[in-house]
Amino acid sequence: MKEQQTILTKDKNQEMREVVLQLHDLNKSFDDNHVLKHFNMKLYKGENLVIMGKSGSGKSVMIKCLVGLMEADSGKISVMHKDITSLNQESLDVLRADIGFLFQGSALYDSMTVRENLEFPLRRHTKRFEKSVDREKLVIEALGNVGLYHTVDLMPAELSGGMQRRIALARTLILQPRIILYDEPTSGLDPITAKEIIILMQDIQKKYNTSSLIITHDVDCARVISDRMILLIDGTNYAEGTFEELSASIDPKVRAFFKQ
Ligand SMILES: Nc1ncnc2c1ncn2[C@@H]1O[C@H](COP(=O)(O)OP(=O)(O)OP(=O)(O)O)[C@@H](O)[C@H]1O
Ligand SMILES: [Mg+2]
Repeated sequence: MKEQQTILTKDKNQEMREVVLQLHDLNKSFDDNHVLKHFNMKLYKGENLVIMGKSGSGKSVMIKCLVGLMEADSGKISVMHKDITSLNQESLDVLRADIGFLFQGSALYDSMTVRENLEFPLRRHTKRFEKSVDREKLVIEALGNVGLYHTVDLMPAELSGGMQRRIALARTLILQPRIILYDEPTSGLDPITAKEIIILMQDIQKKYNTSSLIITHDVDCARVISDRMILLIDGTNYAEGTFEELSASIDPKVRAFFKQ
């Protein structure tokens, strides 16, 4: 992996930490639907940051702006201290390979086998993975990480929902990203399978020291996985803190999230 300059910033506890991802004053509207209004967020290296917000609050829009699938109306997005709006296409592609994105749902390619699904990002980022790379080895390692090597020649339709989610995670991991963005990683899964996915996410974080942004409205998931949380309410980063801090809040808008 290439070396990068480390720039440290003080967090709210005055500790010096590296910011790997930052949204500054982000705005995004669809006609008169003002989804994001001066939204701010910092993701520190090695942390699991959970963003919670109710359905339709703009969580997916925010993450899509982050990965360039959608263009924000204004505001700044920095990845590894680089303002992505000022980068040319080539630098942007290099930087994007550092970010893994697990889509809401699994978004596997239905017409491709598990192996082909996993090889797809390797082909797209050929610059990073030159010809010398042993694709098969990477596929085996990525599938091993999610305990599903035996599915390598199956089609997505032959897998359960939980298995599809794990394969999607393996596909995200194959590019060895420094940052992983998870959009509702446990939605639509039964509680036991959801727990397996959460354990997998924790294992991956430990093994690769990745920084993760996890979007969820699953309170159990947030409790287990978050080092820090942001509540997205009315388009802004309404409240920030640890799970314990936020769940003890007396603010009615914050409390609404933790009522089961
Ligand atoms: N491409 C689009 N065109 C117009 N409006 C959009 C578009 N994408 C999202 N929106 C609107 O933006 C708002 C936020 O949508 P978003 O998908 O970010 O919600 P969410 O917080 O991810 O919800 P959920 O928890 O259900 O996934 C909604 O009002 C939605 O209708
Ligand atoms: Mg969403």
